[in-house]
Amino acid sequence: MKNILLIQNKINSFNNSINVSGDKSLSIRWAIMSAQALGKSKAFNLLNSEDVNNALIAIKKLGIKVVKKKDYCEIFGKGLNGFSFSNNTTINAQNSGTFARLILGVLAKTKKKIILKGDRSLSNRDFSRVIEPLNKFGVKIISKKNKLPLKVCGTEYLRPITYEEYKGSAQVKSCIMLAALNTPGITKIKCKPSRNHTELLFKHLKLNINIQNKNSYDVIKIKGGKQYKGFNYIIPGDISSASFFIVLTLLSKNSKLVIKNINVNETRTGIIDILKKMNGKIFLKNKRYYKGEKVADIHVISSNKLKSINCPKEINSRLIDELPLIFLVCAKAKGISRFENLDELRHKESDRLKLSSKFLNMLGIKNEININSFKIKGNPNLLLSKNFTVKDYFKDHRIFMLSCIAALTLGGTWKIHDKNSVNTSFPNFLKTLKELGGKFR
Ligand code: S3P
Repeated sequence: MKNILLIQNKINSFNNSINVSGDKSLSIRWAIMSAQALGKSKAFNLLNSEDVNNALIAIKKLGIKVVKKKDYCEIFGKGLNGFSFSNNTTINAQNSGTFARLILGVLAKTKKKIILKGDRSLSNRDFSRVIEPLNKFGVKIISKKNKLPLKVCGTEYLRPITYEEYKGSAQVKSCIMLAALNTPGITKIKCKPSRNHTELLFKHLKLNINIQNKNSYDVIKIKGGKQYKGFNYIIPGDISSASFFIVLTLLSKNSKLVIKNINVNETRTGIIDILKKMNGKIFLKNKRYYKGEKVADIHVISSNKLKSINCPKEINSRLIDELPLIFLVCAKAKGISRFENLDELRHKESDRLKLSSKFLNMLGIKNEININSFKIKGNPNLLLSKNFTVKDYFKDHRIFMLSCIAALTLGGTWKIHDKNSVNTSFPNFLKTLKELGGKFR
């Protein structure tokens, strides 16, 4: 039963305080920004997961020194355009859409050709969303049907662009911002709001960035070409990882949990807003700011009067990675929950809309899936006793962790495949579950 997790018992009540690992979005951004800073950058609490470690390996292949110690990581950047590698070097983003899309922006200016590849899941994902704006900058990208592997032919003569981003994708926005940083002149991006970590880092580093909010769009202007020095960062905890424990607590009986030191940047806290509206008892305490990012401790208490939600579509980009978990809460909530504009959910490590529907069907929860909308009929008395097997989901780490939370809160006997998938984003996931009394083999 290697790589299969067996869960046969619900979790007992708990009253604990935990830490979760460093934020993935911030870890990858710190690594990429440090790789093109001047001099040494140092990060503490960098997420020690496959997505981040593969990013560090790729950065080393670009000729940048990376030193990883138990407690910190150092990157010795050589400034904008400071990479050195031989023609047709291959870098592998493995499972990470964020690293793949962001690094493409940085590679826009490299004269040598470079090949970007990824694992089976990433090679199925769409890259036209970044190829199109990069082409406008003057970068040539050769691919089959806009999928990895890509051959990137950068240019020294990048031209600034004006671009409209309608998906609300932070990966696309950040790719363009990083290309803009390497491009003389002013690049203008009109975009649907999405997580703004790249913007906050640019501001922290005093780069030339101006952001205006106009009619629910952000207009970002970047003047490229400015060098910046290496910088240190203490990465706060990841709300996407914390969310599994928020939901575990809400759906467990008589339990309380404090999740310490979490990045609660408002572009990421949609799950808290929605779960609170559903009667979830969640409170943010000890709020503070760190380099422009908001950080707090999240307090959660079991909540047994959950009600359905009509989820406003404008919030989707603030909770995109947490949607499958929210669907699980809807399964236990009174009434019918509704979601719309979910197209982007089909373009993650797996088609998470399709898999979520399959998952709820398995639990006996009525749901209706459409091209981009989803309806769930909750059952507050939901209790499981059958045998469940979860497999064939593209080794999607978030579906694995979702299944563990369902098993520990709803009952039944569960065989959940691809245990190793947690290494993508949250290697300590099972250890933390154990700390709270979760039993599995
Ligand atoms: C991320 C952005 C989101 C998210 C991903 C991380 C980022 O993707 O799903 O896990 O760090 O920028 P999109 O921007 O494509 O929606």
